[in-house]
Amino acid sequence: MSSFMWSILLYGARKCALRKFCFMFVVICTTLIIAVVLILWSLHCSNSEARAIIRDLCFHHQRGAVLGSMCVNICEKPNFIFKRCMNYNEGKQVYHVKLNDNDIVLKSERRSFYNFPTLGYDLPNGSHIFPSLQEFSRIVRESLWLNARFNFSHISDTTALNSIWSMQFQQFVGSSESLHAAMLSLWSLLQQDEYVMLVRLLHNTHFPHVLGTCGHFYAIDYIPSDAILSPRLVTGGDDWSLRAHVARQFLELAASLDRDFGERVHICDVKADNFGLGADLGVYVIDADSVLVDSRLRAEFAFTTSNENCSSHEACSFFDCLTLCNFETGWCQPQRINSNLQVICRDIFTSRLSNARRGLLRSPPTAIANRLAVILKECVNLISASNEQETYIYSQLDSLLNAKGAQQH
Ligand SMILES: Nc1ncnc2c1ncn2[C@@H]1O[C@H](COP(=O)(O)OP(=O)(O)O)[C@@H](O)[C@H]1O
Ligand SMILES: [Mg+2]
Repeated sequence: MSSFMWSILLYGARKCALRKFCFMFVVICTTLIIAVVLILWSLHCSNSEARAIIRDLCFHHQRGAVLGSMCVNICEKPNFIFKRCMNYNEGKQVYHVKLNDNDIVLKSERRSFYNFPTLGYDLPNGSHIFPSLQEFSRIVRESLWLNARFNFSHISDTTALNSIWSMQFQQFVGSSESLHAAMLSLWSLLQQDEYVMLVRLLHNTHFPHVLGTCGHFYAIDYIPSDAILSPRLVTGGDDWSLRAHVARQFLELAASLDRDFGERVHICDVKADNFGLGADLGVYVIDADSVLVDSRLRAEFAFTTSNENCSSHEACSFFDCLTLCNFETGWCQPQRINSNLQVICRDIFTSRLSNARRGLLRSPPTAIANRLAVILKECVNLISASNEQETYIYSQLDSLLNAKGAQQH
């Protein structure tokens, strides 16, 4: 065979191998993409299951076992529209719904009303004994004091119950069935840290309002998270003055939690997804599960070592709230060694992965870039810092974010 023929054959074989390779590459990529989409899809909650959960809630409401100010709206009004379920499968039940054209969110830690610990006890003959209203108020007062340092000692039993629930307890005292439904409904809500904290922090401008409840679900303002808060792969180009404004909102949130509640309030799970940006451009804490008053956080740290001695400082942390292990006693120290401000600087203003190049305060105007980088670094390192050091960082950040020359890029 001539050399010309050989080269044609060789060229054909190579082309064929390349085509096979391309074909295999496309098949593998498509399979991978489909697998990733399927995995993500299966991790996300299902709208049809969420609708079934609401139907179940309404079934129990209609038979009088579940009460709350929102039940009639959710179960009987045509202007209640389910939009979508918002969370991953194993997380809380979080539903975006519309009521009278207003966006709201329904939340509950568990799917069913009956998944919460019950109240009272069963007798051997099968009947169930509920606490009296007076006993119930005492249990509620104690649980609220332990969990959130709610102090109701100066008000009457029913006033205390009314201030933590969406309906007036007096309406139900005439019928034991209704009273038990009211107690169980409130009891299911009190098992949910977020509900308790949202009621405790109700008048703070950085938390969504509780608009009402139905059984174990509570309705709050819809305040979605915003891309501006999330570090992105491709950054830059967006409005610095808006980001500086949002950053000042975070500073104001941190200052308010230090100042406005008698004792400090700690946000122990700081990530962009857990904050919403309101239409008023205010920053809101939309996942308040890990928002703890100081004394409750101290109890959490102590609880860490109630069964076993600590052997590292890391073993003592409660999510983003850090403390030290005392290696001599084997106990976690009760006081937190970092602060809301430190974690906000670390996880919101900058990014742990690439520091100031991502995060909310990425790409600052040149006029403040160097100074800001220095202060942010100091802020991220605020561990075991004094009040004076914290106050200094607050004021430096605040004035840099307010600086006139820094408003325009
Ligand atoms: N008030 C709200 N407004 C808008 N979206 C919300 C609100 N609360 C929660 N979400 C959305 O639902 C997601 C899950 O809610 P979250 O309370 O964080 O649940 P989990 O405790 O399971 O993380 C949030 O990341 C957010 O996207
Ligand atoms: Mg969350």
